[in-house]
Amino acid sequence: MLSVKNIISIDDLSQKDIESIISRADSFNEVLSRDLKKVPVLRGKTIMNIFFEPSTRTKTSFELAAKRLSADIVNFSSNSSLKKGESIIDTVKTLRSMIMDLLIIRHSDSGVMDFIARSIDVPIINGGDGKHQHPSQALLDLYTIREHFKSLSGLKIAIVGDIVNSRVARSDVRLFRKMGMDVELVSASMLLPEDLDYFDCNKVHNSIDDVIEYVDVIYMLRMQLERQSRKFYPSIREYNRYLGLNLERIARMKKGSIMMHPGPVNRGIEISEEIMNREKDLKDISKINQQVKNGLAIRMSLIYLALTN
Ligand code: CP
Repeated sequence: MLSVKNIISIDDLSQKDIESIISRADSFNEVLSRDLKKVPVLRGKTIMNIFFEPSTRTKTSFELAAKRLSADIVNFSSNSSLKKGESIIDTVKTLRSMIMDLLIIRHSDSGVMDFIARSIDVPIINGGDGKHQHPSQALLDLYTIREHFKSLSGLKIAIVGDIVNSRVARSDVRLFRKMGMDVELVSASMLLPEDLDYFDCNKVHNSIDDVIEYVDVIYMLRMQLERQSRKFYPSIREYNRYLGLNLERIARMKKGSIMMHPGPVNRGIEISEEIMNREKDLKDISKINQQVKNGLAIRMSLIYLALTN
């Protein structure tokens, strides 16, 4: 049971909600390890994936999660009547009229989910809205960290890069702080948001070298080039010098620490080509593939809890 109908922002979730999501994901992970990776718990339920923005991981993972739970899922194509001038609310209401039990929505406008939720009587899961929130990403990140370290208490995490444009940063920081972890930001002044207080983080640094030797998790953000209407950083070379992860920096990471990234990676910007080409050798450090894997169990848990509330 969750305390909320819609999963829109990490801020809406209580500690108990987060524990329920994680614990349910543990049991679904066990299901995913079986030969028959499917349970009949949501037979007869219908879910719609409505992605107005591109996605590889989130959309596919929600779709597969629904199928593993035996629900029917329909993928809404963005090649729709929106192009003929239909409003987003009319589009969502039209889709809802086809008797859907749950809507999973991604949209480029920050805050649009609350607006949609006021007009719709079925639960909504936010698949990412503008620069605002991406709760399923933050939960799978937390799950991956907990899986590696077993306990969250006292962990130090550095979130590196394009903070101002990142919904992942906004969701991760709020969740990690809620769970008692220390969060430090590493960025440049032009990539930091004005609402820094919202992040409630412990420190801000300008170079990855300031933190690389002592943090438990180095979380690399994607440079959100599609949200940059102006140039946010002088050059890729400058970005690499202060904010990029390369093999030399990996070698200086604290023993037992890990590196994460939400994907998709801009190779050669936030993470070097050499690291990306050696992901197998670096699997004890790089958790990028594990994040994707855990996303399935977390999204099964979110769908299940949203539909059995
Ligand atoms: N991390 C993430 O949201 O990836 P996609 O854009 O591929 O869904």
